[in-house]
Amino acid sequence: MNALNPIGVFDSGVGGLSVLHEIRRALPGEDLLYVADSAHAPYGDKSQQFIEARSIAITEFLLSRNAKAIVVACNTATGAAITTLRSRFSMPIIAMEPAVKPAAMNTQSGVVGVLATSRTLASDNFVKLFARYGDDVRILGQACPGLVEQVEVGDLSGDKTRVLLEQYVLPLLERGADTLVLGCTHYPFLAPLIREITGSGVTVIDSAAAVARQLHRRLEVAELLADGARIGTECFWTSGALDKAQPLVAQLWQADVEVRSLPSDIDVGRNKPV
Ligand code: DGL
Repeated sequence: MNALNPIGVFDSGVGGLSVLHEIRRALPGEDLLYVADSAHAPYGDKSQQFIEARSIAITEFLLSRNAKAIVVACNTATGAAITTLRSRFSMPIIAMEPAVKPAAMNTQSGVVGVLATSRTLASDNFVKLFARYGDDVRILGQACPGLVEQVEVGDLSGDKTRVLLEQYVLPLLERGADTLVLGCTHYPFLAPLIREITGSGVTVIDSAAAVARQLHRRLEVAELLADGARIGTECFWTSGALDKAQPLVAQLWQADVEVRSLPSDIDVGRNKPV
């Protein structure tokens, strides 16, 4: 493995671009490969076996493009597939963890709200976080059906998105939450609207920057860090429709980028979405 090899990043869709932004900030010299599995988003309503199969197939695709490390930029895929991925592949694999620890340290009211998919809230990882921090602070998990879909169509501030967010956020505020954890990588794109709804006095936290720092540490230890003085590149693939993905990735990445179709031979599970 060579330090100039790229880093592979994937998500059920475009949400992981929020993590990719932080990776780019932390590691300007790295070449980045990003796969949006948008044909299968949201993962939240798929079976564990399906998410595992997709995660393995996408990781194999990224390895075929010489990825030196993998970032699972999806809380749902982390919960469903991280154990399998780590037992199968030997390169560094960095995964998401909802930012409950910094939220527990930040809260003054002692109440923390966690916005995530229902699959993430039910995962072993989250149950462990709950057990670790739930004695000191009250942790309120809030499943948010429909939000991933709104980000997948690029609707970050429309009426439908606002109504959904109010429905999920306001009850948490009524129950005293002064800190909100964005436990799904799609949600940071909704943070401006979430802050409009919460007003000042509520802290909104996600774990993208922490994941980028962790990736930096792992590459450093493995002596796989690219020279920070070079200018890294990005390549994007989607399993979804290109005419939708192209403008959406450009909107969220804030640059006019080319998006390619994932090769169909990695299309594990397309006909078995449950
Ligand atoms: N971005 C994914 C996450 O972090 C979305 C989940 C889904 O597709 O259900 O959980």
